[in-house]
Amino acid sequence: MKGLCEEPCYVIELLEDGVTIDDVIDGYISEHALVERSAFVVGDLGALMRQHVRWQVLAPNLQPYYPVKCNSSPAIIELLASLGLGFVCTNKAELSLVLEQGVPPENVILSGVCKQLAHIKYAAKNNVCHLVCDNQAELCKIARAHSKAKLLLQLTTEAHAAETSVAFGCSLKSCRYLLELARELGLDVVGVTFHIPPSCPDLQQAYHHALSDARCVFDMGAELGFSMNILDIGGGITGSDFQLQQVECAVSPLLDAYFPPLSGVQVLAQPGTFYVASVFSLAVNVIGKKVLNQQWGSLAQGELSATDTEFQYYINEGVYGSFRRKLLGNTIPAPSVHKHALCTEELVYPSSLWGPSLDQLDEVVEHCLLPELSLGDWLLFPNMGANGLEELTCLPSEPQMPVYYAIYTADWCGMQEAGVALDGTMKSFSLINHRRRQSGITFIFVRSTDPSCDHHVTSTDPSSGLLKPVPTHPLVYCSQYQPILWDSIEDWLSLDWA
Ligand SMILES: Cc1ncc(COP(=O)(O)O)c(C=O)c1O
Repeated sequence: MKGLCEEPCYVIELLEDGVTIDDVIDGYISEHALVERSAFVVGDLGALMRQHVRWQVLAPNLQPYYPVKCNSSPAIIELLASLGLGFVCTNKAELSLVLEQGVPPENVILSGVCKQLAHIKYAAKNNVCHLVCDNQAELCKIARAHSKAKLLLQLTTEAHAAETSVAFGCSLKSCRYLLELARELGLDVVGVTFHIPPSCPDLQQAYHHALSDARCVFDMGAELGFSMNILDIGGGITGSDFQLQQVECAVSPLLDAYFPPLSGVQVLAQPGTFYVASVFSLAVNVIGKKVLNQQWGSLAQGELSATDTEFQYYINEGVYGSFRRKLLGNTIPAPSVHKHALCTEELVYPSSLWGPSLDQLDEVVEHCLLPELSLGDWLLFPNMGANGLEELTCLPSEPQMPVYYAIYTADWCGMQEAGVALDGTMKSFSLINHRRRQSGITFIFVRSTDPSCDHHVTSTDPSSGLLKPVPTHPLVYCSQYQPILWDSIEDWLSLDWA
């Protein structure tokens, strides 16, 4: 199954006031520096929650359906499920991941316009009825394997076709043909989906075309006797409030015109990057270095200097791993250097960053300005949650990259107040151990800033469920056997665990 490589047991560090995600990263860098200096990822689960709140404030009329392919980390899926999102899956593994989290099948869409028959059958068996389709062969396959399917026709948009250079979706003309064929085959068509990527230069125009085309398909559907009530405007929202507002401003008046609330049409969007990009930060280690003498001058805070030195660094993650989105044409922004604050007179050099494969495609950052680095230095890449981390487990023989989760106490309390941790699937984080489910254990840690804090960490033996001390760990631990955790985090924090 795709997904981040954490065990089914989630380790979530609860951060007290004054402790930040950067402190968590520092802590793990110190730990990793003592061993293999492997790259690792830190996930701030509160960031996911905060993005959800932003979405609700800025785009309250667009129901979010999370595209699992964007990041299929089980912890992310679990939290999003508890927040009540719908999900868009592209295959059987993704379907089973979301269904295992108790997501109602009616809130799941099986997308992809070329699905494996077995995956369609799996959807049918599990009552996932919303399937995307854009061609005749797919329609016939669906008719054979899933007679109860409710189809969403994927409409082409110029912007999507331009980005992928593949003709995604069908034209208005083919929609008519597919609607007629669906009727002949006894299949139901319930909606339309399209996608406009964030690279689209004119959002206003793109949404205008797409939504007026969608209206035409709804009208054709009505003529042919279909009662269509789902409009999915896809993803393409980068993560910034500004861009979400731009999309909202472009879409809102068009929805009012073409699909007013009285039409009863449910409007969905597929925000992937928006939800998960900011959740994960990646720490990588410099494992190789070459000095190149080229025409570039080194720059001292913007001024040309005399030297002609350029550095080529090798890091222990590349485009065949966490930086996969580079191969999809995205630019990877320059990283920051761990524990390095640039001072004005310090020299910075033109540098490039390469992955460990020594393959010429494995160039992660082509040009950036960095101070001179040494082997063993750490580089930090924020905003790494989307389109990359989910590929970590594609090579079973590869060692898995560690993923560490943390959450600010305020975010956790916010979740409890919002009822997420009490009613939703997040509850299982606390109860997994209680019930000794085979899926593992959830630990909640408090990372303390107090140097006098000498509490022992205990962990729970999965086979016996008994608490066992873990020596010399600088964290305070509370097991799920303390139900008080879920009643009041403050009470729990004030307990004397010494
Ligand atoms: C059909 C479709 N929907 C949704 C998404 C998610 O887009 P984003 O991560 O930009 O929100 C993509 C991304 O490629 C897509 O192709």
